[in-house]
Amino acid sequence: MAITVEQMYRIENNGHEMGFQKKFMMENAGAAAARLLTDALGGDAASKNITVFAGLGNNGGDGMVAARHLAGRGALVRVFLLGSPGGIRTEECAWNWSLLGRMPSVEKKAIAGPAELPGAAKFAPDAAIDAILGTGIEGGAVREPHASAMRLFNSARGCAKMSVDVPSGLDPQTGEAAGGCARADFTVTFHRVKAGLLKRPDLTGRLHAEPIGIPPEAEKGVLP
Ligand SMILES: NC(=O)c1ccc[n+]([C@@H]2O[C@H](COP(=O)([O-])OP(=O)(O)OC[C@H]3O[C@@H](n4cnc5c(N)ncnc54)[C@H](OP(=O)(O)O)[C@@H]3O)[C@@H](O)[C@H]2O)c1
Repeated sequence: MAITVEQMYRIENNGHEMGFQKKFMMENAGAAAARLLTDALGGDAASKNITVFAGLGNNGGDGMVAARHLAGRGALVRVFLLGSPGGIRTEECAWNWSLLGRMPSVEKKAIAGPAELPGAAKFAPDAAIDAILGTGIEGGAVREPHASAMRLFNSARGCAKMSVDVPSGLDPQTGEAAGGCARADFTVTFHRVKAGLLKRPDLTGRLHAEPIGIPPEAEKGVLP
């Protein structure tokens, strides 16, 4: 059953109020993303070069958790934070960024503007993760440096490309992507599929819906 973005936020908030904190949802989401990407790399992420593009909201936080799990699997992970650490929007995302700060095994770079991203010609990872924008996207156009990061993600050839929850730029409600969009080989979405994703297999690629531990009781009063 596909759900609306508003229903998803209500279910998430209900779960949080029951005591299943958003931090744990994020942990399960990032772990599921890391597992699926490892599968896409033939079951072994060790020594693979993986670039994570992370926004400043909880979608970015999911990507940071995936980065930590992939580093734990022996991958060589680089995280581009799209903005300054001081601009991180949520407690869960800030917590995961600070954890990465204690992991020299993960390369991190805060991107203030498009010029700080590598050129497309030099961008050749084994896998790339789009955790730029999820259900929190607002407005038609995607701002910088997010738009350039999306283009760089799209430019990669011969690598596994995964979007986290929603291909960045896609309106998960309507399936519109007027302001440009990430184009993934596969998308891992969480809990239940949001309606707009089903309309855009051209952008999502293969769609996986992964449970992230939200109690079914959190859907009470939200879903029929
Ligand atoms: N489904 C679940 O149960 C669950 C649970 C945990 C986590 N999550 C994850 O959390 C995500 C939602 O997190 P969120 O609500 O924090 O939203 P988000 O999708 O992370 O987006 C919010 C961020 O995007 C920026 N933004 C919004 N529109 C933009 C635009 N047009 N151009 C550039 N930047 C833009 C915002 O910046 P400003 O604030 O400056 O506008 C903010 O930093 C989900 O997609 C999922 O990945 C889901």
